[in-house]
Amino acid sequence: MADIENPITLRLMTEDDLPMLHAWLNRPHIVEWWGGEEERPSLSDVQEHYLPRVLAEEGVTPYIAMLDVEPIGYAQSYIALGSGDGWWEDETDPGVRGIDQSLANADQLNKGIGTMLVRALTDILFSDAAVTKIQTDPAPENHRAIRCYEKAGFKQHSKIITPDGPAVYMVQTRNTYESAQSCVTGR
Ligand SMILES: CC(C)(COP(=O)(O)OP(=O)(O)OC[C@H]1O[C@@H](n2cnc3c(N)ncnc32)[C@H](O)[C@@H]1OP(=O)(O)O)[C@@H](O)C(=O)NCCC(=O)NCCS
Repeated sequence: MADIENPITLRLMTEDDLPMLHAWLNRPHIVEWWGGEEERPSLSDVQEHYLPRVLAEEGVTPYIAMLDVEPIGYAQSYIALGSGDGWWEDETDPGVRGIDQSLANADQLNKGIGTMLVRALTDILFSDAAVTKIQTDPAPENHRAIRCYEKAGFKQHSKIITPDGPAVYMVQTRNTYESAQSCVTGR
């Protein structure tokens, strides 16, 4: 159900969403920040790599963001510990989750929708008491994504090198999340 202050909801992605996701992942505004031209996926790539069952084996949960009844974006969360392939090798905390997301439609960028999406996703993740911290790793040149994460409560922690290249490591701890919530609710 939509939060009264946040019209964005997230539902779990299903296999039936994969053709739609394939179309989205080939849109220029997403290709620019999601793998680049050389990673532009075919439908069979998407069916192979984004099948929810396959993602689950990698600790990844995929979501479709909804604005009322309209699917407007893709998001995923992952368990950082044990990601493999050179990702988050120093992580020892099983409670750390990571997030990534992209809005489907270029004409919906820069309208605050991404910030609401990230807030909806952090609400879902922190509703699990086992989650201690949420991280994300935008490219240093992706100023729009960095600003969006900051508005959603993330802080820039450090510059890092990931298997995908340089990134800004951004975090939101449970403490900062709960402090912000209590400021809003007055509790
Ligand atoms: C990243 C993304 C999810 C953010 O969602 P969004 O709805 O566009 O972002 P918001 O409107 O909530 O916030 C964007 C902020 O960045 C600011 N911004 C935009 N371009 C900017 C730039 N070049 N430099 C600095 N700030 C910029 C906007 O002004 C806004 O801040 P403000 O509200 O303080 O003015 C969305 O833009 C997207 O899907 N982009 C394409 C794919 C992508 O980059 N995915 C993320 C990979 S980490």
